[in-house]
Amino acid sequence: MLRKVQQGIWEVAEDQRILGSNLGVRANIIKTNDGLVIHSPIELRDSLKNDIDSLGIVNGLIAPNLYHHMYVRKYQEAYPDSRLYILPALLKKRSDLTGAISIEDGACYPWSEHLDHFTFIGGRWFQELIFFHRESKTLILTDFAFNIQDTESRIGNFLLKIDGSLGRFGQTGMERLLIRDRKALRTAYERIMAWDFERISVAHGEQIEDNAKEIFTAGLDPVL
Ligand SMILES: [Fe+2]
Repeated sequence: MLRKVQQGIWEVAEDQRILGSNLGVRANIIKTNDGLVIHSPIELRDSLKNDIDSLGIVNGLIAPNLYHHMYVRKYQEAYPDSRLYILPALLKKRSDLTGAISIEDGACYPWSEHLDHFTFIGGRWFQELIFFHRESKTLILTDFAFNIQDTESRIGNFLLKIDGSLGRFGQTGMERLLIRDRKALRTAYERIMAWDFERISVAHGEQIEDNAKEIFTAGLDPVL
């Protein structure tokens, strides 16, 4: 169900189960002067489409990394006038995404008045566009870090617990494995900390609404 975060930004989350463990998944919807932009679209059910349509016209879709692109085709069909913006590396993986526009650092986009961004390249298999929504002071992460409190699975909780990533904000073992470039990670950390963010939106897990910078630093500290 769509939730209004603040003026100009909404979020929607749903269960996402992998081998019985619920990691959850979330999308953000941002209002711009040209319409709505959907960051990391989740499955477009009828009820969600109705909710989105009640907010305005969708004119942008963002696929921010190599993994959160599963539903963009369906959104393109539902919103044929929208434009799809993607992580450049995703072009190779999804050559079927006709009309996709690569997001470059420093370039201007219809959402640039509201969202800052940069590309984090941690390795061949881990690249992500990281966003900051200025009005709500929200850092928008996709897979860069998780904040899972409970997977609703004993095995899932056990695995995340021994991984050290249950009940806390930070990177999981998978991210630690895929992010090979430690210097790029430190640079990303510094760029993110230069933003004046007060909350963190994660695609997987609970949102962080308080002490965001302290929690971000504590979560990244073990891997920097
Ligand atoms: Fe993910």
